[in-house]
Amino acid sequence: MKILVVGGGGREHAIIMKLAESSKVDALYCAPGNGGISKYAKCYPVKATDIDGMLNLARELAVDLVFVAPDDPLVAGMVDAMQAAGFRTFGPNKAAAIIEGSKVFSKNLMQKYNIPTAKYAVFEDPAAVLSYIEAENTYPTVIKADGLALGKGVVIAQNYEEAKAAVSEIMEDKIFGDSGSQVVVEEFLTGPEVSVLCFTDGKAVKPMVSSMDHKRALDNDEGLNTGGMGTVAPNPYYTEAIAQECMETIFLPTIRAMETEGRPFKGCLYFGLMLTPNGPKVIEYNCRFGDPETQVVLPLLDTDFVDIIEAIEEDRLGDLDVSWKKGSAACVVMASGGYPKKYESGLVISGLDEKGQTENCFVYHAGTKLGENGEILNAGGRVLGVTATAETLPEALKIAYEGVASISWKDVHFRRDIGQRALKALES
Ligand code: AMP
Ligand code: GLY
Repeated sequence: MKILVVGGGGREHAIIMKLAESSKVDALYCAPGNGGISKYAKCYPVKATDIDGMLNLARELAVDLVFVAPDDPLVAGMVDAMQAAGFRTFGPNKAAAIIEGSKVFSKNLMQKYNIPTAKYAVFEDPAAVLSYIEAENTYPTVIKADGLALGKGVVIAQNYEEAKAAVSEIMEDKIFGDSGSQVVVEEFLTGPEVSVLCFTDGKAVKPMVSSMDHKRALDNDEGLNTGGMGTVAPNPYYTEAIAQECMETIFLPTIRAMETEGRPFKGCLYFGLMLTPNGPKVIEYNCRFGDPETQVVLPLLDTDFVDIIEAIEEDRLGDLDVSWKKGSAACVVMASGGYPKKYESGLVISGLDEKGQTENCFVYHAGTKLGENGEILNAGGRVLGVTATAETLPEALKIAYEGVASISWKDVHFRRDIGQRALKALES
C-alpha cells in the first residue's frame, strides 16, 4: 500500500513510524510533514487544511489510503472529499468530526444520552453568560468557546472579573474567531485526568492503552496551558475496574449515540476523562489521535496498524483482536524557549544523528525543518518528543530524560517532572 498521512507534527511522526512496521506498506508520504518526518517519509509542502491541494497530491501519488490526522481538516470534511474522489481513508467524516468541532454539540449529545459529564449551560449572548455566572456565584467556573481554538478555547475563571474578561475576549473580541459565537459554561470538576484513545468502526470500540498528558508549560503544573509537554502510558490511575466502568457508561454509549444520531464515527475517538469523586466523566472528545498521547500509545501497539485501519474501514473491527505490548512509555517534549508565547525559530539543534535521532530513544519531530546544509533547525513551539519504552515507567522515564540531556539548542525548554504524578500513583 501507498499511504499519505495528512499533518506535520509529533503525532504524525508516530503514526508514520507505526505504519512503517507493517509488511503491507510499500511507501509512506506526508503533507506537510517536517524535517524529522522527511527522514522516514517523503514530505510535500501542502497545508493540512488545504482540501483541494491534498486531493491533487493524493491523485498525483496514486495512494491507496489517506490518513487524516489533525482536527481542522477532519472538521472541515477532508475525509468526505477524499471518499467522494474514491480514496480509502482513515478518520471520521465531517458529520462525525463535529463531536470535537462543536462543544455545544458534544455537551448536548452527552446530556441527551446520559453520558457522565460536567453540568453546563449554552449561551449566544455575552450579557446572558455573565448574569448566569453572577447568579451561580460558584468558582472556579469553566468557560469554553464552542468551536476549535487550537486547544486554547478553555478558560478556568477563579472569580467574576476573570470570567468577565474571558467572555469579552471570546465573544466580543473573538480571539478564536467564529469559534466563540457560542460558549459553554461548565461546572468545575476535580480528579486525575486520563486520556483514552479508542479505535472504532462506528459499532465496535477497542480502547488503546491509557495515557496521561501534562498540559501546563512549567513543572508542578504551573504556567500557561500548552498543546502538551509530555505523556506517559499506561496511566496508573486508570485501573481495570475504571476501564470497565468507562466502557459501559461512556465509550459504548457515545458510539451508539453517534450512530443513533446518523453520525457513525469511524477512526480514533479520543476520550478526555476526569476521574471525579463521583465517577469518571467526560471533559472533552477529540475526533482524532491526541498529541503527544500518540507518541506513547502507538509504540505499545502490537497488532499490525494497517490491519486495524482496514478492519475499521470494512466495519469488522469487532472481529479483530487488538493487542498491546507489556511495559510503559514516556515522552518528554522539548520546546522552544518562550513557548506557548513568542519564541525564536531557525536555531540549530545539536545532539541528533543523521536520522534526527538519539541513542536508546525515539525522537518524534514536532516542529523541525532542515537547513541548507541538512542541519536540523527548530521551526515550531513544540519541537521534539523524546520517547522511550521499557518494562517499567521509572526505567522509561530515565531513558527518555537521558535522551533529552543529549540534545540541546539555544533557550530549549522542557519539564523536568514528566511522569512524577504517575509514579506517586504507582507507589500508593
Ligand atoms: P480541553 O481543551 O477541553 O481539554 O480543556 C483543557 C483543560 O482544561 C483540560 O485538560 C482540563 O484540565 C481543564 N478542564 C476542562 N474542563 C474542565 C472542567 N469542567 N473542570 C475542570 N477542569 C476542566
Ligand atoms: N493532548 C491533547 C490533544 O491532543 O488534544
